Amino acid sequence: MSEQTKICCLGAGYVGGPTMAMIAHQCPDIDVHVVDLNPKRIAAWNSEELPVYEPGLYDVVKQARGRNLKFTTDVPGAIREANMCFISVNTPTKTFGIGAGRAANLEFVEKCARTIAEYSDSDKVVVEKSTLPVRTAESVQRILNSSSSGVKFSVLSNPEFLAEGTAVDDLLNPDRILIGGDNDVAIEKLADVYKHWVPDERIIRTNLWSSELSKLTANAFLAQRVSSINAISALCEATGADVDEVAGAIGTDSRIGPRFLKASVGFGGSCFQKDILNLVYLCEHFGLPEVAQYWEQVIVMNDYQKRRFSTRIVKKMFNTVSDKKIAIWGFAFKKDTNDTRESAAIYVCRDLLEERARITIYDPQVSLEQIRQDLEYLMAGPGGVLTEAQRELLYNNVTVTSSAKAAADGAHAIAVMTEWDEFSDQDFDSIYQSMMKPAFVFDGRNVLDAQQLSDAGFEIESIGKS
Ligand code: NAD
Ligand code: UGA
Repeated sequence: MSEQTKICCLGAGYVGGPTMAMIAHQCPDIDVHVVDLNPKRIAAWNSEELPVYEPGLYDVVKQARGRNLKFTTDVPGAIREANMCFISVNTPTKTFGIGAGRAANLEFVEKCARTIAEYSDSDKVVVEKSTLPVRTAESVQRILNSSSSGVKFSVLSNPEFLAEGTAVDDLLNPDRILIGGDNDVAIEKLADVYKHWVPDERIIRTNLWSSELSKLTANAFLAQRVSSINAISALCEATGADVDEVAGAIGTDSRIGPRFLKASVGFGGSCFQKDILNLVYLCEHFGLPEVAQYWEQVIVMNDYQKRRFSTRIVKKMFNTVSDKKIAIWGFAFKKDTNDTRESAAIYVCRDLLEERARITIYDPQVSLEQIRQDLEYLMAGPGGVLTEAQRELLYNNVTVTSSAKAAADGAHAIAVMTEWDEFSDQDFDSIYQSMMKPAFVFDGRNVLDAQQLSDAGFEIESIGKS
């Protein structure tokens, strides 16, 4: 009889936490230990206030926690007990040295491989869950093999495709599970875990490199669709076409499909930009500059879209927002998450602050502390410090409120940055009364009813509509 699977996952972040909670939930026979070096994160996973806001996640965690799901800082203990180790740590863009600004920083992944090698006293399947450059498994395998313990390791690639805000549903009903490897026994051991709830026909087996590259490619294709429709939104604004109508019209073509065609202020999130930059770096590394330039345009277009939005605000408001109050509705990079990484809101707020605007932010899930941290990081640059003038702006001109209406009170404009459902469900007549006139609305998500707002007296500017 084959040995019962016991899992250890290194990294209790947006991916490690929810993914392992779902495995534990669906596989009561498998012990799942999730470890992290950050004791605060582990404490939060053991509390009622999970570190990740994700609809439906608390119920999944609650049912398995204390049964077969454990969050702990005991890294050596969890590794020793496990026969399958997932690496689910962060792989941010490098900010220093060779490849800075493009290549993935793999130091955390390498440290995990070394830690697994150090504490393992029995054979293990090691699963790359983090998003990694193609051929990383080679380095991971070499580091693991350098251990003198005689323990055998089989490395698999099993990238994660969940999207934040819908993680529970994505994990419960994945389009596919991708497993890359060269050891069939290890591949089937991992497939058996997923087969507890995912039909076998949705489990794709490939070689290691195809699996690693498929993850970067999937994110590049998705981001490319957003940049493509955003590029068209600029042309719509110049010509009188309506980007939502164009997206609707092309999306009915079954070869194009309707999803990921929502024009916006620009995509954010921890992964799209990082993964495309990584792809660009890999193409350059392998001597493919034309391919690198092709993908880089997706980022160039996204930067343009964010900047175009803040420029439009300034232009429409008589070329100055200095000392004007602007309500920012939403700061997270999309709705139903508390994640602000690479959110377009950070860039737009930075631009408005540079124009000396006073900004009042409302987001149902993001704290003032997080907002200040994000703005400080962007304004100072990696490793930099704020100038005195920047510090003054950050501390005097940025406030938060506890409702969308309160943010708009006395404001000259509202800028919608995140598509939270509650934003379309406001009393716009009363909001209009409370604002300075002319009262502007800049809808960076096209979620508001432009006709209704116009009837209420607002000057409304939407993405891709003139
Ligand atoms: P995250 O920053 O939320 O979490 C990573 C965690 O790893 C942190 O809590 C950190 O303390 C921990 N960690 C770092 N080094 C460690 C070590 N040596 N031992 C134990 N813990 C360690 O990151 P994330 O958003 O969960 O992303 C993880 C990976 O998954 C990335 O490669 C990302 O590209 C990929 N991914 C993310 C998403 C997403 O929606 N966020 C989706 C798919 C794939
Ligand atoms: C994305 C992918 O969708 C996941 O499959 C992948 O696992 C994940 O990246 C990752 O590797 O981290 P995520 O970033 O969580 O997931 O969220 P998305 O729904 O993809 O949205 C990304 C950004 O694009 C958001 O800012 C969103 O508002 C924006 N977007 C998305 C648009 O502007 N328009 C659209 O039509 C779709």
